[in-house]
Amino acid sequence: MSFRVQPPAPARPNRCQLFGPGSRPAIFEKMAASAADVINLDLEDSVAPDDKAQARRNIIAASHDIDWGTKYLSVRINGLDTPYWYRDVVELLEEGSERIDQIMIPKVGCAADVYAVDALVTAIEAAKGRKKRISLEVIIETAAGIAHVEEIAASSPRLQAMSLGAADFAASMGMATTGIGGTQENYYMIREGAKYWSDPWHWAQAAIVAACRTHGILPVDGPFGDFSDDEGFRAQALRSATLGMVGKWAIHPKQVALANEVFTPSEAAVTEAREILAAMEKAKAEGAGATVYKGRLVDIASIRQAEVIVRQAEMMKA
Ligand code: COA
Ligand code: MG
Repeated sequence: MSFRVQPPAPARPNRCQLFGPGSRPAIFEKMAASAADVINLDLEDSVAPDDKAQARRNIIAASHDIDWGTKYLSVRINGLDTPYWYRDVVELLEEGSERIDQIMIPKVGCAADVYAVDALVTAIEAAKGRKKRISLEVIIETAAGIAHVEEIAASSPRLQAMSLGAADFAASMGMATTGIGGTQENYYMIREGAKYWSDPWHWAQAAIVAACRTHGILPVDGPFGDFSDDEGFRAQALRSATLGMVGKWAIHPKQVALANEVFTPSEAAVTEAREILAAMEKAKAEGAGATVYKGRLVDIASIRQAEVIVRQAEMMKA
């Protein structure tokens, strides 16, 4: 292993990020009452240009007036290619309450995009004497974003999370799809006359997970657009969890429970992980580096795998 130890990702639950348009304050209380770990109030693509200014006012008011409990409160600003983003940051941090935890930057294409927001946030925090240090999350949803994913993951000590935004990503890549995430009709292979569907998001997700794990950032799966398709959501979320992602967005409240279910380790998984750790303790005591658990090999790497599950479960309990 490299002598540089892999830094841990922030130890906070991030199983589900519930989104809601900043222009729709009637749902803010419902978002606060939801079971999502993270709330993303949106100023970007779910808000029409004429509503941007009012959406900022709504979010600033909600940061003062609504009891967000223990939720991690994040606001998605507009992209750096728009005329809105700087006012988003300035107004939020000059007038928003200390309850705001995080700013989410969409369509990040390079490390300098994060640097620019970091510089502005840092200046406003100092000028206003804000006590809570705002964290950042980014969305990888362009060709440039995925091409520069590793430098983006390393871009700022404020950076805590990185999501894959499937819809904009597909558009930027020129992919022939219209669905937001999930199975794509035309992405299949043929064997003996039968179609087998493959996963067009896989490599981008794996690249994001690798960049995030290298730099101690939480990798998150973004939106699944068809909120009538619970099984499709669950399948996508299970694939993301299997690849190392810690959570998924909900773009409708009914997706919150689905995400929480997938990204909370099951009783059975935790029991098995603890049994593997116990088996390895016993092996170690007997001077062995490997042993057999339920007919399969477990060794010192299995300890690290099992610890991922146990740590995740313990964080949820806390
Ligand atoms: N968070 C919390 N509650 C929400 C909600 C959300 N994002 N979206 C809808 N609700 C509430 C509704 O107010 C309604 O509440 P009620 O039962 O008390 O009346 C209930 O959930 C059912 O809503 P429904 O009628 O099924 O949906 P809708 O037509 O009101 O809204 C969307 C559907 C998709 C437009 C809406 O969920 C939404 O705006 N999602 C987020 C979009 C977004 O932020 N996109 C950017 C990231 S990709
Ligand atoms: Mg987007």
